[in-house]
Amino acid sequence: MKAPVTDALFDRVAPLYDRAMKVVESTVLASQRPWAVSGLRGRVVEFGVGTGLNLPYYPPGTEVTGIDLSSGMLERARRRVSELGRISTTTLVQGNVEATGLESGAYDAVVSTYTLCNVDSPDAALREARRLLRPEGVLVLVEHTGSTFSPLDWLLALVDRLSGPRMGEHLRRDHPATATGAGFTLTSLERRRLGLVVRVRATPDQSAQSLEEEVSPLARDEFHSGGASEGQGDEAEGVTP
Ligand SMILES: C[S@@+](CC[C@H](N)C(=O)[O-])C[C@H]1O[C@@H](n2cnc3c(N)ncnc32)[C@H](O)[C@@H]1O
Repeated sequence: MKAPVTDALFDRVAPLYDRAMKVVESTVLASQRPWAVSGLRGRVVEFGVGTGLNLPYYPPGTEVTGIDLSSGMLERARRRVSELGRISTTTLVQGNVEATGLESGAYDAVVSTYTLCNVDSPDAALREARRLLRPEGVLVLVEHTGSTFSPLDWLLALVDRLSGPRMGEHLRRDHPATATGAGFTLTSLERRRLGLVVRVRATPDQSAQSLEEEVSPLARDEFHSGGASEGQGDEAEGVTP
């Protein structure tokens, strides 16, 4: 298993993570967790499960396998599982989401929330997600990214120059483009909170159909240029083919 900088970093961050996320999610990002897991069924793999903040929201009956590099984060996730009484349906594994070693084509969903900003290769991670999913499976992403509000995006670009190389925290990755490049068809794409949060649902490509054929050019241009205005910063720019 590779041990990138995020492993040691998140071991150190683990004791503070839940409190920090509580602040960030009650202000900047808002709570996206119920949306991320709503309607999921069957066997689910959660990439970068962290301290298990999504676990309370999974629908009853789902069998969740959570993977994370950080033993410190996993330790807290284990505590959460025993508090929730979900131990029979949740398996927590220390591993790399770029190469999980899990069975191919055996999962109904792969979920990633705020993880792809930290992995070394999001492309490798999403190709791995593609490998794990059944043909009718679903990929769910809730990730932070650049802003559609130019001054904020400029600031993020500045911070990203340091946070990327030094902390493995990449603030402006284009997650929908990575998903399509890794063999997914986007079924919904929304940006929220001044574009800072991107929410994606996608299915493994069944044909050669690309995002270009699925999404209207206007909607795609808005997403990639970040040009749409968001007065309140909380409305969705839905792109639902
Ligand atoms: C910002 S935290 C997000 C945690 C959780 N998904 C959430 O929504 O709160 C990122 C997590 O991804 C994990 N991580 C980063 N790179 C990873 C990799 N290649 N494989 C597995 N986990 C990884 C980190 O250890 C950390 O727990």
